[in-house]
Amino acid sequence: MPRTIAISGASGKTGYRVAEEVLQAGDQPRLLLQEHSLVPEQLQGCDQHRLRLGDAAALDAALQGVDALVIATGARPSIDLTTPLRVDAWGVEQQVRSCERVGVQRVVLVSSLCAGRWLHPLNLFGLILVWKRLGEQALERSRLEWTVIRPGGLSEREEQLEQEGIRYSGADQQDSASIPRRLVARCCLEALNTPASIGQIIEITSSCDLEPIAMAQALAR
Ligand SMILES: NC(=O)c1ccc[n+]([C@@H]2O[C@H](COP(=O)([O-])OP(=O)(O)OC[C@H]3O[C@@H](n4cnc5c(N)ncnc54)[C@H](OP(=O)(O)O)[C@@H]3O)[C@@H](O)[C@H]2O)c1
Repeated sequence: MPRTIAISGASGKTGYRVAEEVLQAGDQPRLLLQEHSLVPEQLQGCDQHRLRLGDAAALDAALQGVDALVIATGARPSIDLTTPLRVDAWGVEQQVRSCERVGVQRVVLVSSLCAGRWLHPLNLFGLILVWKRLGEQALERSRLEWTVIRPGGLSEREEQLEQEGIRYSGADQQDSASIPRRLVARCCLEALNTPASIGQIIEITSSCDLEPIAMAQALAR
């Protein structure tokens, strides 16, 4: 039976790819969006819920009955330096609390390499790495079955991904290198299908020089 997978930030460049991968897997995506979010043409027909993350009742209604949530929200570049705190810390915490209230057990969060670091150039944007770690901690302290995916620098490349291997590691093992958003989206889906990923922070970067392996195999090493 197809599962219903909610994706928040589904208008984002990683989020829409997660939704595409959900469709590809034969499951039903439910897109959680802001009022004015733009959804790519190919996802127009999907179930859509437009809301503010701070509106607990609307968030609860949007998550009602889903089998899992992939959190792909993230502060967009802005001159408002409070945005990372509001989206990457509070926004994630609001989603975690809502999952607890409505009984959505399984959550995958797209975070970032170096989450939790104070000294990092990316923190010039409102201490974003510090707030991302706070978002992760909200999940870790929850009663949910969670996985944190920490990707390296994200790229839009879609070509030759089948031969590209992923370097998987635990927390705070990698601090550079990149990965295409498509592979991040596939990892989110793979995490949902990999019980060993529950309760894990998984850092991912990719390279054509690496042999592709399953997430379960990487976690077993
Ligand atoms: N860029 C990188 O190299 C990099 C590296 C590692 C990790 N990451 C992280 O990976 C994740 C995905 O990145 P991305 O570049 O693919 O994302 P993106 O294209 O910037 O999309 C961000 C998504 O978050 C939503 N969002 C922003 N503020 C929101 C709010 N207040 N309430 C609800 N939704 C909100 C956006 O909605 P709208 O469309 O309505 O704006 C959009 O759907 C982010 O958490 C990002 O920080 C990025």
